[in-house]
Amino acid sequence: MINQLISKASAFALGLAALAACSAPAGKVNPAIAPDPDVEAKVEKVLKGMTLEEKAGQMVQISILKVQDETGENLDPAKLQEIIGKYKVGSILNVLNDRAQSREKTAELVRQMQEVSMRELGIPCIYGLDMIHGATYLTDGTFFPQEINLGATFNREYAATMGRIMAYETRAAQVPWVFSPVMDLGRDARWPRHWESWGEDPYLQAEMARTETVAIQGNDPNHVDLEHAAVSIKHFMGYGVPHTGKDRTPAYIAENDLREKFFRPFKECFEAGALTAMVNSASINGIPTHANHELLTVWVKEQLGWDGMLVTDWADIDNLYTRDHVAADKREAVKIGINAGIDMIMDPFDPECCNVIVDLAKSGEIPMSRIDDAVRRVLRLKVRLGLFENPTWDCAYPDFASPEFAKQSYAAAVESEVLLKNEGVLPLKGTERILVTGPNANTLRAMNGGWSYTWQGSADDFVPQYNTFFEALFDRFPGKVSWVPGVLYDPTDWQKDINVGIQKAVSAARNADVIVACVGENSYCETPGNMDDLNLSANQKELVRQLAATGKPVILVLNEGRPRIIGDIEPLAKAVVDVMLPSNYGGDALAALLAGDENFSGKLPFTYSKHINALHTYDYKVSEHREVMEGSYNYDAVMDVQWPFGFGLSYTTFAYSNMQLLSPESFQAGDKIQVSVDVTNTGKRAGKEAVLLYSSDLVASLIPDVKRLRGFEKIELQPGETKTVSFTVPASELAFVGADGKWRLEEGDFRLSCGGQAVTLRCTATKVWNTPNI
Ligand code: BGC
Repeated sequence: MINQLISKASAFALGLAALAACSAPAGKVNPAIAPDPDVEAKVEKVLKGMTLEEKAGQMVQISILKVQDETGENLDPAKLQEIIGKYKVGSILNVLNDRAQSREKTAELVRQMQEVSMRELGIPCIYGLDMIHGATYLTDGTFFPQEINLGATFNREYAATMGRIMAYETRAAQVPWVFSPVMDLGRDARWPRHWESWGEDPYLQAEMARTETVAIQGNDPNHVDLEHAAVSIKHFMGYGVPHTGKDRTPAYIAENDLREKFFRPFKECFEAGALTAMVNSASINGIPTHANHELLTVWVKEQLGWDGMLVTDWADIDNLYTRDHVAADKREAVKIGINAGIDMIMDPFDPECCNVIVDLAKSGEIPMSRIDDAVRRVLRLKVRLGLFENPTWDCAYPDFASPEFAKQSYAAAVESEVLLKNEGVLPLKGTERILVTGPNANTLRAMNGGWSYTWQGSADDFVPQYNTFFEALFDRFPGKVSWVPGVLYDPTDWQKDINVGIQKAVSAARNADVIVACVGENSYCETPGNMDDLNLSANQKELVRQLAATGKPVILVLNEGRPRIIGDIEPLAKAVVDVMLPSNYGGDALAALLAGDENFSGKLPFTYSKHINALHTYDYKVSEHREVMEGSYNYDAVMDVQWPFGFGLSYTTFAYSNMQLLSPESFQAGDKIQVSVDVTNTGKRAGKEAVLLYSSDLVASLIPDVKRLRGFEKIELQPGETKTVSFTVPASELAFVGADGKWRLEEGDFRLSCGGQAVTLRCTATKVWNTPNI
């Protein structure tokens, strides 16, 4: 049986290699990151002096939990010595005791690692942390709203600000590597990591992730300075659309979609200099991504000429045999992974992995050329980060956790909370008695979500100094605000909630003029966030029903990592705000927005679905919607969503007019299309507006998406003010990947639309690209 497995797996690996051979690019490829001769010389010099054992060690990353002492308060010097001295491990990840540490403590841990590493190997260790919305693994760091919120700002500035501050504060703790930005498309709300994404759209994701990548690393990936860090764009790729909706389960993605929607944003980040990438833990079309030579080696390293480093996700080489059954045992799994293109194995608790690599190299099952290539990539990263010269560094970082950084996080939260409905109750007048209720009313944990102080998010244990929604409203409206929790999250607490919690909330509501019901989800991350019902939990819905029955206006605040279905209770609310996961300043932001001190300008970066059996994305196929194409066969296929992608209200109103095509109506692939549109603030107060430009390909050889986002700009307008917003779209951006896997722009009509305005234009010549990327 084992033999059979081995031979099947080898055949599989060979199949991948054959596929790779067919699709390798012809000719020379422009490298994604232009190599620096000094960096390369340094890498070669170090590589030359290394033994095979030392090389294998550089290819392995261990969890800090493996080298901490029994108290979990410190490193264990003997364990550290063993991991680095004996196994020669080159990288460590994760936080001591699985909890955020202070900046000072983190810096001290790094000093200890580097002292052993430089003494034993003469090569610095690289320590990496999951900072995904600010310096979220430092107890004293600045947290930003989660990426899904920043997506809702449609404002690149926040991606830049978060990246810059995250890098600065992480470096201040002597850590040079963050596992960020997350680039999984949030196209399926059932998936428990939806909130880690920028939303469902590839263009939005590409723009925000590329901006953040450059902000984290700085402008020169060959020389990352002491205020910047290396990124690990993740999870490469297609992780966010598992068939089951459950974490780390298989995805099935057509190859044209894979290249056009999933790869394209990664490509932009690779080309913007991303120094490392972490691989999708699951599989695509039956191939575990960690075993996918075609994607890892051919698409990224060969076709993009990318010389960075690919790290596995958590224990994912083990998953090749324990979960996916494409390898018979660890040895075979390591062989498949490294031969597919993995450079560093995140093997949190098993340093023996180093010996497995040595053995495979000695037997020739992993060619020495592959080992050297992987080690070069690891060393290159360390050289680019300046770690050889400065394994640790002595800098002041005076802005660490400064009020200025806090201000930026607050501003991002304000722009990210989305007003979805307002039947005259908002802004609050200030005279109302306000009841704040619901399980999310008074918890920082739910405001922050996962990857905040701990993996599952446990802000309540760490940061009482920040304001919850209740506390912020209490401060903003002195003497007017009361709080009753109402219900718990878990629907199994239903009976208890109904008997006690809901009744208390209902009686409190009788003495209030307005009810702010904060419902949603507690924090979660990865597999613990899997669920079988996307409906908001039944007890929370019952709370809203009974509160609404009092006749008092209900403002529904949705504090959730993914759009939970609320179709049946939404009509009961007079106003709805989706705050998603706005983090530590999200309470202050909400209070200011409800009070009207600030104006709403967030827009949904995902489609908010209404029905459990009708989960959609905005870029659906024209044939899915009966109104789009006359004669569409399925007359029941109506697109009925709660709120569409890009939807969000404000306290002012905007009118769009005068959309104009500034470039010729006829175009070809090499042209640039230019359009402009006038946006006027027709209301009585200042406001910001995200102006979104879409394209539609009216006839194409594959069923076209109904529309695609091609541009966005965030503008601010005073009452009565008009601004002209211009967009330049390279015509090649309107291309799609055809059934043969080739990018193509086809002759025929296109429409560009923006805020209800539209222009049509015509492509006069079909172009098919023979290169895999454009
Ligand atoms: C997650 C990654 C994370 C890694 C290291 C994994 O479980 O999928 O996103 O970077 O752990 O903590």
